[in-house]
Amino acid sequence: MELGSRPARPLYAVLQGEVNAFLERLPPAHAAWLRATGFTGKDGELALLPGDGGALAGAVLGLGKGRDPHALALFSERLPSGIYRLEYVPDGFGGARALYGWAIGTYRFERYRRTPRATSREDPRLVIPEGVDAETVSRVAEGVFLARDLINTPANDMGPAELEMAARKIAEAQGATVSVIEGGELLKSDYPLIYTVGQASPRTPRLIDVVWGRDEHPKVTLVGKGVCFDTGGLDLKNASGMATMKKDMGGAACVLGLAHAIMESSLPVRLRVLIPAVENSVSGVAYRPGDVLPSRKGLFVEIGNTDAEGRLILADALAEADREEPALMFCLATLTGAARAATGMELPPFFTDDDGLASDLMERGREVHDPLWRLPLWRSYETAIDSPIADVNNAPDYPLAGAITAALFLDRFVSNTKCWAHFDIPAWTDRPKPGRRRGAEANGLRAMFAVVRQRFGRTP
Ligand code: BES
Ligand code: MN
Ligand code: ZN
Repeated sequence: MELGSRPARPLYAVLQGEVNAFLERLPPAHAAWLRATGFTGKDGELALLPGDGGALAGAVLGLGKGRDPHALALFSERLPSGIYRLEYVPDGFGGARALYGWAIGTYRFERYRRTPRATSREDPRLVIPEGVDAETVSRVAEGVFLARDLINTPANDMGPAELEMAARKIAEAQGATVSVIEGGELLKSDYPLIYTVGQASPRTPRLIDVVWGRDEHPKVTLVGKGVCFDTGGLDLKNASGMATMKKDMGGAACVLGLAHAIMESSLPVRLRVLIPAVENSVSGVAYRPGDVLPSRKGLFVEIGNTDAEGRLILADALAEADREEPALMFCLATLTGAARAATGMELPPFFTDDDGLASDLMERGREVHDPLWRLPLWRSYETAIDSPIADVNNAPDYPLAGAITAALFLDRFVSNTKCWAHFDIPAWTDRPKPGRRRGAEANGLRAMFAVVRQRFGRTP
């Protein structure tokens, strides 16, 4: 295998328990080198193999017990530039998975670095493994990178207007139609919750509405929480609570990344993306605890806490999405701290009444290693969002099961759409791993793409 005239260097990935057998099969000089330098195959161990005259001949990666399916990202993260090919990887690590791992290992967020880092170099390149649908892998990886970039961008450069610009760029590249309802127009068009949550900020709130695809195709609608910064409003967050709240538009970023992958793959669907984009800010015109607000759906909402703002703006967007009764609807949001308490940062919970959709999401998520976990819409907790004076309260009066009561709140605003799920995602990595640096993560994007493709893709 050669690219141009330069031969591709061989790469090997090996489980710790299989190191001895692996060394037996390796050219003797390389096996001797690995023995002499004490290669054990532990997770994340990268050994460079010497060639003639001091050249680099290849590399070996230790996989430990093989628990991380994206472990091969370490290759593209660490290897010197040049061209490589996968000579040997254990079952379950090759093919599309290897290519995706390689792709995410190249992700960097360098918008704010004027001076290149000491480790920076031209990305190493991989000969595409045989039989892999490289186009699909790269469309999905592009979607993930897009979402991560949007989330990593700090709030000073990523307000509602900038989020709109980003949506326009992604949509217009695919010939999609974008319409935006902004500021006072939100009230005239009957989006009172989006307007009111966003009105304390000089950066005007808006509803971004992207439509793509042919009308006769099944409707797939994606709704994403676009809180460009969440101070908590008057029920202000403390310093540590606010620290990462630039990521509170993570739902919006992920639906845009997912939309990119869907459109770029020309899936036969009529796609709609709805993003309520606001900044949850503090000022004299901020909405207050105790206020009662009307909503697009018609329900009155009592404000128990201005920090439960995500469910408010989503309520108006979901009510609009639900009018069309899409065949499939996903709602993505960094909605509650309680979701993190329940399943941590690596396993975002989702909620749906549709058992078939739930099992598809769990299965596809497991397959592509974008794990998700179903939590119940436990109706008996619904009394927690009762209000003494209005139809519903935005903050539960029950301190437990906060991710569930938030999902139950959203559920009140969807009545026609049968097949839909809400994802309470962290949009963040706090324990870095190969290909997943500390910072933004596009949770669920790949699992959802796989489900959309499974359900609506053209059969080859
Ligand atoms: N954006 C936050 C939720 C959040 C916090 C996501 C930390 C990821 C990490 C959301 O707007 C919020 O503040 N939720 C409150 C709701 C409460 C006031 C009912 C929460 O979870 O504490
Ligand atoms: Mn909040
Ligand atoms: Zn929020």
